Amino acid sequence: MDSTTDTGCSDSYNSYSKSHSSGTSLNYSSDINAISVDLGDHNGCHGDNVSCNGLKYLPTWPAINLEFRDLTYEVYDLHTKSRKQLLRSINGQFRAHELTAIMGPSGAGKTTLLNLLAGYGAKKTSGEINVNNSPRNMKVFRKMSRYIMQNDVLDPHFTVLEAMLLAAHLKLGNELNHKQKLDVINEILGMLGLTKAQNTITMRLSGGEKKRLCIALELVNNPPVIFLDEPTTGLDDLSSSQCISLLRGIAHRTGRTVICSIHTPSAKVFHMFDKVYILAESQCIYQGAGANIVPYMKQIGLTCPRTYNPADFSEYRSLEFYDILVKLN
Ligand SMILES: Nc1ncnc2c1ncn2[C@@H]1O[C@H](COP(=O)(O)OP(=O)(O)OP(=O)(O)O)[C@@H](O)[C@H]1O
Ligand SMILES: [Mg+2]
Repeated sequence: MDSTTDTGCSDSYNSYSKSHSSGTSLNYSSDINAISVDLGDHNGCHGDNVSCNGLKYLPTWPAINLEFRDLTYEVYDLHTKSRKQLLRSINGQFRAHELTAIMGPSGAGKTTLLNLLAGYGAKKTSGEINVNNSPRNMKVFRKMSRYIMQNDVLDPHFTVLEAMLLAAHLKLGNELNHKQKLDVINEILGMLGLTKAQNTITMRLSGGEKKRLCIALELVNNPPVIFLDEPTTGLDDLSSSQCISLLRGIAHRTGRTVICSIHTPSAKVFHMFDKVYILAESQCIYQGAGANIVPYMKQIGLTCPRTYNPADFSEYRSLEFYDILVKLN
């Protein structure tokens, strides 16, 4: 495969490793007690419209860069009575301060990859998953990451504020007093545009508000890594772009590593992602800036018509894209 800046996954992994192998990134502490509660300026909150009065009470974590190499996942298929590879030797990296989209046709392995990275379900995997250049320690990683699944359920009878208070009591325990917890909650609800809905019971929320509440509940203890499986499914264009814009804000303003799977986003939403990671046939066919996908596909003979949405085009032609890459290798 041709090695350009944003290409198929093995090359981009190598260039990433070279630029990050000097150990400049923050060390990944395997000691959970090393988390500090920062009462000063909250990192990443300066300069934007978002005030950080509440967030300052939350635990702070180092920025997290996640890498995986040669990741393979197989299951035993009862129907065919043989092993089936759901992910085949894929490489990649997802970085702090960035919002990354995992894309690809249905069945490509997007949810499987999220599950593996978040540490859900899949046990028999091969390959490496590293957190800030050290092997992932699942006990620590669980505390520093949150996974918002596609069908996350909310208790329909709680109001937004009650649901948030419950999450704060469960996740923050006695570390903060009631007033501090309310400050944190107000901050998060403001950030996610849910302040006006705080006294509404969740069954009456709109689809977009429900998704945002699912995200808000997971932000309560300030996780540095957030995985989301299809956060825009079921939302209209406006709510989808609000949701993705908000996730982008979270990544950029607070330095979090935000990774979500998404199906054929609109052109506007596609351009909000810092990076895209495209899967086809259980393999990664592209990783890099979304803006480079069209020139990259053109290089290998797939020309996107001017009027096409690059997200639709790359997903729609991904199998051809995959076949060409296989032949080139
Ligand atoms: N335990 C299993 N046994 C057999 N096949 C499985 C198993 N789990 C997942 N699969 C298959 O693996 C493939 C990848 O599934 P996955 O849910 O990751 O796809 P996806 O890219 O998230 O698709 P979608 O966009 O439809 O959500 C699918 O073809 C699915 O049927
Ligand atoms: Mg899926």
